[in-house]
Amino acid sequence: MFHWLEKNPFFFAVGVFLVIAYAGIVTVLPDFMESARPLKGTKPYTVLQLAGRHVYIKDSCNACHSQMIRPFKSETDRYGKYSMSGEYAYDRPFLWGSKRTGPDLMRVGNYRTTNWHEIHMYKPSSMVPGSIMPSYKHMFTNTADIETAYAEAYTVKSVFNVPYDEEDMPKLGTWEEAQKTAIAEAQLIVDDMKDPQVKEAFARGEIKEIVAIIAYLNSLQ
Ligand code: HEC
Repeated sequence: MFHWLEKNPFFFAVGVFLVIAYAGIVTVLPDFMESARPLKGTKPYTVLQLAGRHVYIKDSCNACHSQMIRPFKSETDRYGKYSMSGEYAYDRPFLWGSKRTGPDLMRVGNYRTTNWHEIHMYKPSSMVPGSIMPSYKHMFTNTADIETAYAEAYTVKSVFNVPYDEEDMPKLGTWEEAQKTAIAEAQLIVDDMKDPQVKEAFARGEIKEIVAIIAYLNSLQ
């Protein structure tokens, strides 16, 4: 029936294009439905988590870690439920990554704790013998940039209508309010940490990068 098509390269190419385009559209179309983005239960990052996300980007964690669980049994057994496009609705930029030197981190908040991250980030091989992950000691002395994180949250709220301050969503408020919220959130993490320098700095009102990145890692669920 399609013999004539096989003998006619032009129409064959058009046919191939149509079939692939159709398959592509069927795959992506559901993601454009209102119910798909954002996925129900997905919340924008709090200011502290955003500050941690900035550290994640700055220190290139995404060069070795992906944030995308593929729908294969080997992956879902290890990392949890496969990723849905609507879960990335508030990720700017997305951090899917393209290389897994280390494990996927999309749901790392479900199985690692503040205490584990604290020791691991300081010296990965003390937690996982033979680990080739670099140590990130500077995060224990560098102060997190809460102000830039607030500016980002404020911008995406005004420009992209990210639903901060709405029911069941993270509070943003004014800069003064946001600082108080970030400190209250950081307090819960610092309480679970051991490093005396981080605790001392926090008592002086400084939130170290390690606290922000742990807040971010814990939010990945
Ligand atoms: C050079 C590659 C590399 C970079 C860069 C890197 N990691 Fe890793 N990471 C690894 C490897 C390899 C492992 C597995 C061994 C281990 O747990 O230490 C790992 C493990 C982890 C784990 C444990 C995950 C699990 O499921 O057990 C976390 C959390 C983590 N990395 C966070 C980070 C963060 C945050 C950064 C950026 C500050 C980062 N990594 C940067 C290579 C890297």
